[in-house]
Parts: sequence; structure tokens; C-alpha cells
Amino acid sequence: MDSLIIHGGQPLRGQVKISGAKNSALKLMCASLLTAEPLTLHNVPQLADITTMASLLKQHGMEISESGENSFKLRSNNITNFTAPYELVKQMRASIIVLGPLLARFGEAKISLPGGCAIGTRPVDLHLSSLKKMGAEIDIIDGYVVAKAQRLKGAEIYFEKVSVGATENTLMAATLAQGETVLHNAAQEPEISDLVECLIKMGAKIDGIGTNRLTIQGVEKLHGAEHEVVADRIETGSFIAAAAITGSEIELLGARAEHLGAVLHKFEEAGVHVEKTANGLRVKKPREIKAVDITTEPYPGFPTDMQAQFMALMTVASGASTFQETIFENRFMHVPELVRMGAKIKTSGNTAIVTGVPGLRGAEVMATDLRASFSLVIAALAAEGETRISRVYHIDRGYEKIARRLQGLGADITRIKE
Ligand code: UD1
Repeated sequence: MDSLIIHGGQPLRGQVKISGAKNSALKLMCASLLTAEPLTLHNVPQLADITTMASLLKQHGMEISESGENSFKLRSNNITNFTAPYELVKQMRASIIVLGPLLARFGEAKISLPGGCAIGTRPVDLHLSSLKKMGAEIDIIDGYVVAKAQRLKGAEIYFEKVSVGATENTLMAATLAQGETVLHNAAQEPEISDLVECLIKMGAKIDGIGTNRLTIQGVEKLHGAEHEVVADRIETGSFIAAAAITGSEIELLGARAEHLGAVLHKFEEAGVHVEKTANGLRVKKPREIKAVDITTEPYPGFPTDMQAQFMALMTVASGASTFQETIFENRFMHVPELVRMGAKIKTSGNTAIVTGVPGLRGAEVMATDLRASFSLVIAALAAEGETRISRVYHIDRGYEKIARRLQGLGADITRIKE
């Protein structure tokens, strides 16, 4: 297992290219199951989760070939296996997104239940109830979701809760269903709009892109297409926090301000100014970091995936800030690690109160989940002395070549094998 060794206190400078969004690329790869023709994806990030998704799709029978460093050609003209096994699904919950496409095109799917994960129980009831509404027969047998359908039928679906994954699964299933499906209270994340854009290129008929009401007219068949994955808004926000905590000015190439509304607003309130440039965004060196309160919400609210990184920044702010985590019940695992570095944080249920301290100190800490891990990187970049972050594989799931890219920005960071 690798570790990262960071010596804090170095200001960052220069430019970094923002990768394609992991949470978009994973679903776009699943969209290839909907057609026998090739789907070519560009700007796919090189991440452990992408490799896991490729393994899952290949064992279904998908052909995947690289056509450049970040480009893949996917072809599903010989899908022979409709089972997503526990060994793969337990590694990555997003595996559940093969359910809708397999069921819609082939009429059957057997997907291992993902089970709990580090940040909460994360049920899939909304995925299953919406597919049932479209006529699927679904049973849970020996820990597997076993789904069958002749041809799915369009339906009016009201999601009780906003769910990114359930919206994506149902949306993809609806593209090949008979008749019209309307998704009410659909998630509106930019990654969903990216998926909608790609599905439209593949011949799907979808109205309401970017809103919480998507209307899909099912078609008989989808066809091949070529699509570029949208820039990762969470990676962008993570780099902004890293620049802010080190009092640095850096440029984020390819970053999209329009996907970061609530996040940029909170940075601005905290005294971190971000301006648009011809090629992306520039973070300006902040004069002072001010404490601000955060409540996580579905898009366009402040994303749960940015909570840990923003908290790292608030550990050195002037004043106290309150964090309310409303999406996942167990998403403060970075707190004890940040406390080891000298942060003052108290949690109670889904609330954390962070009282800013003048500085952090390097320590031995452990990465616990993807975004929590990056919050430790942010803290370490500002801390006095050496921080050793173990279990780096969590970071590898969602941040491409992170040590090398931070080195490129002037950080004193090395990756070591233990
Ligand atoms: C996706 C993202 C994840 C992000 C999350 C919320 C991917 C691969 N992952 O996860 O990074 O943190 O959105 O923005 O895109 N829920 C139910 N029943 C369901 C489904 C969800 O109760 O059937 C609940 C969840 O437990 C959670 C909330 O709904 O409390 C939101 O979850 P959801 O939006 O579905 O998250 P994911 O799609 O799993």
C-alpha cells in the first residue's frame, strides 16, 4: 500500500489541467451497453474506478480499446453475461448503473447488492422501485438484484428523494422503453446533463436537460456516438481549496465555473476569489480565510463531495464554521485525522463545528474514503513539517496522478511504496 509524504508550507504556482469527471465517465461507459454500435469517449480520467468499471463491463462482454491516452472505444455487440458479481460491485458502488441499460436492452440483469460503504448505508430502493414502475420484475435472491422484463414501458416516476444514481439508471432504461417516461424530482448534477447529451447523440429523445424533470420518449434502438467527458467540478473545487490554504495563485485549465455555482459562492464568502480566464479559472491569492457555514445539498446546492475539502480549508479560517451533512450519514471520517494535525473540530450527529486555528502540524494520518483523503492532502500542504498519508488507494479512485500533478504546481509531495 502506498503512502504520500508531504512537507507543507510551499506555495503552489502555475497551471494544472482539470481531468474529465469520474462520476460522468463511469455512467457514460455504462451507456455503451445500450447500443451494439461503438461509443467513443474522450477525456476519460485515468483512475482506479475507471479500471474497475472497465473490468465489470468487459466481463459482460463489452469490447474496450484505448484510442489515445484518455480516449476509449467501447462496443457492446456481443454482450453474453448479464451478471455483475459481488467481487466487482463491492469495490465500486457505481456498478449498480449497469442494471438499467442491461435490463432495457436485453431484458435481464443480475447485479450484486452493493451493501454499505464507508460513508453510509446507501440503499438502492429508488433504483429498483422506478424500474418496477416501468414493468420490471425484480427479486432479491442471495444478495443479488435479479431483474427481468419483456420490454420496459414508459411511466411517470416521482423520486421521493433526489438520487444521482437512481436518476441515471432510470434515465438510461427509459431511452429504450416503449412510450414516454417522465422523471420528476430528478437529480440535476452536471454529470447527468453530460450523460443526457451523450444519450441524445446516440439517438435518445430526451427533454428537460439540466432540470429536475426529464421527459424521455423511448426509441427502438440507439446508435454509436463520440463524446467528450465534462471537466470534473469536484476536482476543480479540490484544487481551489489547495490553492487557498497555501495562499497561492494557480490556474485550473478546462475548469467550468458554471458547474460550481454554490461552491464558488462559498469560496468567495471565505475570501477566496476565483476569476474566469480564457482557458479556465484562476484562483487569486487570498488575503485572509474567513469562516463560513456549509450545508450539503443536491445540485445546485453545495455538494457533499466537496464537504471534506472545504472543511480542511476552514480548519485555518478566522472564526468558527458549522458544517451540516444532509446527504450521507457517516461522512465525517476525515475529522479525527484533521484533529491529529491540530484542527479543532467537534461533531454531533450530522453537524461539525470547526474553530479555526492559526496553523496545522504534520502528522501520520490515514485516508478513509475518496474525498476525505483529499482533505488530508489539502491540510498537509499547509501544515508545518511532514505529513504521511497512508492508504493512498482511496485517492487513486478519483484523483488522476495526484502526486505528480501537485509536484507540477510546486508542492513538496512524494509517493512511496510501503
Ligand atoms: C453519487 C456520486 C457520489 C455523490 C452522490 C451525491 C457517483 C458514482 N457517485 O452517488 O460521489 O456523493 O451522488 O451527490 O456518481 N438513496 C436512497 N435510495 C436510493 C438511492 C439513494 O435512499 O435508491 C439516498 C442515499 O443513501 C443518499 C442520497 O439518496 O443519502 C443521495 O444518494 P445518490 O444521489 O443516489 O448518490 P449516488 O448516486 O450513490
